[in-house]
Amino acid sequence: MLVLMLVAVASLRLCSLARAQPLCRVHTVRTGKITQDVHETPGDVLYFSSTTRLIRHPCKKNTALYLGQQLFFTRNNFESSLPPLSIPTSMQVGIPEVTSAHFAGPLLLLVVNKKVYIYNYRANSWTASRGIYHPVSHISGDNCCYSRHPFCLDVSNLIFAYLRGDELSKTNIYFSDRWAYKFMEYASVTQSEILRSLGGIFYFHSLSQAALLVIEQGQAKFGYSDHPLDRSFGLPFDYNGTLDVLIVPGQKGILIFWFEKSLLVSRNSGQLVFPVQVQEGPATLYSSVLDAGITIHCVAANENGLAVLTREDSLYYGSLGILTSVIVKLPHQNIWSPQAALMFSDLGILEILTPLPDSEFPAFDFQKCSVNIQAVLMDPQLHIDLCKVEVLQGSFDNKMYTIDMNSKLELAAEMIPRPGTTPVPFAMVSNPHSLGLHVYNYEDGYTYDGNTRHRLNISLKQQHHWGRADTNFTSSIERATFSTITVDIANKEISCVDLKPLTALISIGCDLKKKIVVQNEISACSEGNLDPVVLQDNYSYVIEKEAYDPNLQGQKADQDLVVHYPYEKLGCPLLVPYDTPWKPVVELWQGEKFQEVVKAEYVLLEVNGLFTYTYSLTARTARCNSQPQNWSTIMKDFQGFFTWDRENYVSCHDPNNNNPLQWPNVPYQILGGPTENKIIFDQRNGIYVFIIYIVDPYYSYCHLTTTFSIYVYGAFPLPILHPEITITLIMITILLSVWLAYMIPKWLNMEQGHSFKGYWVSLCNRCRKSCACFQFR
Ligand SMILES: *[C@@H]1O[C@H](CO)[C@@H](O)[C@H](O)[C@H]1NC(C)=O
Ligand SMILES: *[C@@H]1O[C@H](CO)[C@@H](O)[C@H](O)[C@H]1NC(C)=O
Ligand SMILES: *[C@@H]1O[C@H](CO)[C@@H](O)[C@H](O)[C@H]1NC(C)=O
Ligand SMILES: *[C@@H]1O[C@H](CO)[C@@H](O)[C@H](O)[C@H]1NC(C)=O
Ligand SMILES: *[C@@H]1O[C@H](CO)[C@@H](O)[C@H](O)[C@H]1NC(C)=O
Repeated sequence: MLVLMLVAVASLRLCSLARAQPLCRVHTVRTGKITQDVHETPGDVLYFSSTTRLIRHPCKKNTALYLGQQLFFTRNNFESSLPPLSIPTSMQVGIPEVTSAHFAGPLLLLVVNKKVYIYNYRANSWTASRGIYHPVSHISGDNCCYSRHPFCLDVSNLIFAYLRGDELSKTNIYFSDRWAYKFMEYASVTQSEILRSLGGIFYFHSLSQAALLVIEQGQAKFGYSDHPLDRSFGLPFDYNGTLDVLIVPGQKGILIFWFEKSLLVSRNSGQLVFPVQVQEGPATLYSSVLDAGITIHCVAANENGLAVLTREDSLYYGSLGILTSVIVKLPHQNIWSPQAALMFSDLGILEILTPLPDSEFPAFDFQKCSVNIQAVLMDPQLHIDLCKVEVLQGSFDNKMYTIDMNSKLELAAEMIPRPGTTPVPFAMVSNPHSLGLHVYNYEDGYTYDGNTRHRLNISLKQQHHWGRADTNFTSSIERATFSTITVDIANKEISCVDLKPLTALISIGCDLKKKIVVQNEISACSEGNLDPVVLQDNYSYVIEKEAYDPNLQGQKADQDLVVHYPYEKLGCPLLVPYDTPWKPVVELWQGEKFQEVVKAEYVLLEVNGLFTYTYSLTARTARCNSQPQNWSTIMKDFQGFFTWDRENYVSCHDPNNNNPLQWPNVPYQILGGPTENKIIFDQRNGIYVFIIYIVDPYYSYCHLTTTFSIYVYGAFPLPILHPEITITLIMITILLSVWLAYMIPKWLNMEQGHSFKGYWVSLCNRCRKSCACFQFR
């Protein structure tokens, strides 16, 4: 039971400070408080193992977690008093010590007492992760805030869990692609690396690679998972103490490494890592935090800036622009305490937060101090140059785009400099191994306040298609990847706080609007072979046991199969004469727009196992250099789920395919592409339902597939009776015909001949309908 005590006591205490230009104004948040009934157990109150941290959800501004002697979780940016975060006793965590925390989509993940727990804050429920059987200390992951596109949302699903500092040769690394609900062992580490230890493992979406931070004798380096970076490590850098690794939001590849005496930054996902320089005054520049003799208390970073609070009670700010890796000391004000923590709450707004215990209530109040960095940097004592750029804009900023196979993208940005200055705009991508760009930069004569406007036209396409980079530089074109593009000013002053770089996320992958459609210009209904009314009425047909194999292996079945025809899904079948070699005309559509007729390679599978057809070409006549794949080999190699698609297709014309051509006379089952292969039907009328897969890996990143039906007609049913009976029947038929030929003309001249003729015509009409359905009723 809850007893409501005090309601809405909001107090705002403004400290007027002596300085003319204070760093920040302090105020305290104190709101309506609730005391909990003493009988209600709050669970185990969590605490953090290291110095204070504040982590904010990159996509949800007001959702954040404070980690210190207590944890505080907020969804309104600490605008109300809060009780410390606790974990239900039913979770049985033992020691409620938190060593790592991460926001993943709508969840907060915590490592408590060497195990991973999931706090679903919307449902206020806790879950323990499954699949982790060894102690872990840290989790890593990322969030994508550019779009609600499924590929962007999926970024938060990938989570690693690991024990930092563990010996690499025997450590257990876990991986989850489902928001940490279920982990699997991540196999990557080789056995020989005895002296090395694990600094962390991360998935860098900026590069579309996983990377392992390996520590050896005071040095660290990244090892990457995929071509072309997997051959060698990133350059080694000093690893003093135990570095925390921050992946800066935005998928730009910016990383921050820090502990008390060290601060390093990387702009290319760890391939190059540099110490951050420290500027104490206009003329004092130290090459590192160690040189400057300062001790870091905590660090905060957002897409554009980096802030550091030191134990010496100083605040530093640095821009995360491309060329600057320096932090500048801001004017002094007493803000540090062991409980203080830092966070960027908005572009250029830094917040220093200190929880304040309340002797009467369990809920803590919060002391907040908001620093407007832009205003502070204007302080003439800091001698900081004005920003040279007045405007930097582009409609692509903060959006997500897709480049599917062979497509390109054009973006434009514009910059207006301050009069008399020459800032240098530039564009760069985070993943040059898969995305290449060409920038055309020009002055367009248009003036704004007397300044010439600069425009940047940017063309982007897959790095492969620029034809400039060799395969030792480009990632595999078959693999879908991500990259960001950033437009910024090269020689930007630190004072350009409000002038944020323009960034867009590019998915070099499937364009989800793409789909394939099989042309159905001559349908069996329009030609009168099948009746749409009959087909729609829960129509079913029979496949004889001699014509299909339920296991799709081409063996005859034991009994006939009754198949329901899904008219809602397939509509009327396409009409195909049995005696003409055939292949479907496949169209590519983007949304509701027709694009082209697909010329890429594809395969067909009859879903009910009908095998009464073959292919016009054999491996030899298709000019294969190696044994082609076929449905039997695919089903054998990929048991359980046998899709034959762009992931597992290997062309028999590929010079790298060294599967020898042992059976040149087997049917060649791939249609489209360079060959004129077609389907040849046996003498059998009936409906075939095909599933089609585009297998060409270079046509689209999408798994293009669809199901369609055809109606094969024109074949005479094969004799099914015994020869003697057949002969007898034929004899009777001939005799009857002769008799009729003699009799009919006579009858037609008689009175009743007219009604007989009418009966004959109507019989024929009825027969045309039912005979069409002859095989399958
Ligand atoms: C790490 O420590 C060594 C020796 O104390 C020092 O020379 C080096 O500069 C330090 N590196 C960093 C990045 O602080
Ligand atoms: C830049 O792009 C714009 C719009 O796409 C186009 O109108 C303009 O001609 C391009 N300029 C140059 C120099 O290519
Ligand atoms: C790619 O790298 C390999 C091994 O380092 C080298 O032998 C080969 O010549 C390189 N290829 C090109 C095109 O540079
Ligand atoms: C359709 O036919 C099947 C058997 O052929 C029958 O079980 C089913 O109930 C029918 N459905 C409707 C809606 O008539
Ligand atoms: C499939 O290919 C294998 C050889 O790779 C061959 O032995 C087999 O006969 C082929 N199956 C069919 C149905 O063509």
